[in-house]
Amino acid sequence: MGDATFDLQGRRVCVAGHSGMLGSALVRRLVDEDCRLLPLGREALDLRDQAAVFAWFGEYRPDVVFVAAATVRGSTPMTGSRFRTVRKKVLRRANLLE
Ligand SMILES: NC(=O)c1ccc[n+]([C@@H]2O[C@H](COP(=O)([O-])OP(=O)(O)OC[C@H]3O[C@@H](n4cnc5c(N)ncnc54)[C@H](OP(=O)(O)O)[C@@H]3O)[C@@H](O)[C@H]2O)c1
Repeated sequence: MGDATFDLQGRRVCVAGHSGMLGSALVRRLVDEDCRLLPLGREALDLRDQAAVFAWFGEYRPDVVFVAAATVRGSTPMTGSRFRTVRKKVLRRANLLE
């Protein structure tokens, strides 16, 4: 089996959900890497907005994308509409994948 590590040196690295629990820990870890960090929060880009996601990726062209964007804080997934929660999750992931 080959080397499973991935060299981030010189890469443009995006962290979607950088203000969240997982994303902020990831950003703290990545600042030690020799890479160009592109923090991506909802204030800059709502991942449900496909046109905005395409425009952002066209402009910043990240080499690596970490997806830590989610709806998990508090009890929103349990108290809100399950359909809305799933829809938001699918839209965020689908727009990033496209
Ligand atoms: N925390 C853990 O211990 C843990 C462990 C294993 C796996 N995970 C998984 O890791 C992921 C993140 O968890 P977390 O605990 O870090 O969640 P979190 O603290 O709630 O953070 C979620 C992040 O996603 C952002 N976000 C939500 N909707 C967005 C949208 N439409 N556009 C752009 N950004 C959006 C939030 O931005 P705002 O601040 O603007 O809302 C926030 O930065 C989840 O899938 C979770 O299941 C977490």
